[in-house]
Amino acid sequence: MSNRTYRIAVIAGDGIGKVMPEGVRALEAAARSHGFGLELDWHDFASADYYVRHGRMMPEDWKEKVGTADAIFFGAVGWPEVVPDHISLWESLLQFRREYDQYVNLRPVRLMPGVPCPLAGRQPGDIDFWVVRENTEGEYSAVGGHMFPGTEREVVIQETVMTRHGVDRIVRFAFDLAMKRERRHVTSATKSNGIAITMPFWDGRVDAIAQEYPDVTRDKYHIDILTAQFVLNPQRFDVVVASNLFGDILSDLGPACAGTIGIAPSGNINPERAHPSLFEPVHGSAPDIAGQGIANPVGQIWSGAMMLEHLGEAEAAAAIMSAVEDVLQTPAGRTRDLKGSADTVSCGKAVAASL
Ligand code: NAI
Ligand code: MG
Repeated sequence: MSNRTYRIAVIAGDGIGKVMPEGVRALEAAARSHGFGLELDWHDFASADYYVRHGRMMPEDWKEKVGTADAIFFGAVGWPEVVPDHISLWESLLQFRREYDQYVNLRPVRLMPGVPCPLAGRQPGDIDFWVVRENTEGEYSAVGGHMFPGTEREVVIQETVMTRHGVDRIVRFAFDLAMKRERRHVTSATKSNGIAITMPFWDGRVDAIAQEYPDVTRDKYHIDILTAQFVLNPQRFDVVVASNLFGDILSDLGPACAGTIGIAPSGNINPERAHPSLFEPVHGSAPDIAGQGIANPVGQIWSGAMMLEHLGEAEAAAAIMSAVEDVLQTPAGRTRDLKGSADTVSCGKAVAASL
């Protein structure tokens, strides 16, 4: 075995999170063909089954169990019949994001062959960009309060929190990502005309950090027109960086413009690598189709490719993506949500075979 071996914490979770074996099948095929090793630690927590047995979503010592991993490969969590969603999500996935300072939420937006595009007249290649969302501060803050509820004096306040540390690091990540791309272009989402304190600060930090990257071109849009441009002119974008709220919206709108959530992946990344990063499909546990063997495994597989890229195995990641593209070309390779005839396992096996 090669001296490159990665230790991965594998957490399938609930429902169609259990397409995990197809994600792992692709990882193992890529490891074999690219000469690196994988040490997989499967964990049964962060699931409704675990909750029923233990009365909590994760063991008290979860950090000891996953903290030494090079990355976390996550399925999906949520089984609302058994555990309310705010508990299942807050006591598992959001613990990883916060405790491991995964301050980058990264999502590719790419129109793939075989995926019907909701935007008229677009071909694969026309839409290919990244959304970089700040994942720890901004509009999603706990600063504020609710006073005199139910009375004439009722007042609610929730403050946006932007720190120089927090804004600089996400903006820098976006510029670093752009440097690795052919077009080297960064678009910043702002709203400085309306949110006249924090957003001018955001814009100022983008201006300052851009000076460190003379090779990267850039522009900025107010968030309202930016959403329109995602739909009207998606070919304009290369790397789009946004605050927590704006990024949340853009990172759902982007993949929706490129087709289906069944194939969209995401990374929750701690770029300093002080802690493991977590890679997961964008979709949830899909209780409506869980257990039927028909879920599209491509979101999980593509998340695995992002994880390998993060671990430094860029060639293996690219190989997985070209295998996915091959398989999506033919109806026999695609699952039903993409008007194909494959099931979860046959789609996963086709990707692994193409590797
Ligand atoms: P969902 O993404 O699970 O499902 C939405 C719709 O898309 C469903 O009709 C589903 O059948 C379909 N779908 C999703 N992934 C698919 C795939 N791979 N192949 C084929 N069809 C697919 O979102 P929903 O229904 O809002 O949430 C269900 C549960 O998942 C809830 O408990 C929610 O809290 C949880 N959830 C968890 C997430 C996570 O773990 N990161 C993210 C989103 C939701
Ligand atoms: Mg969202």
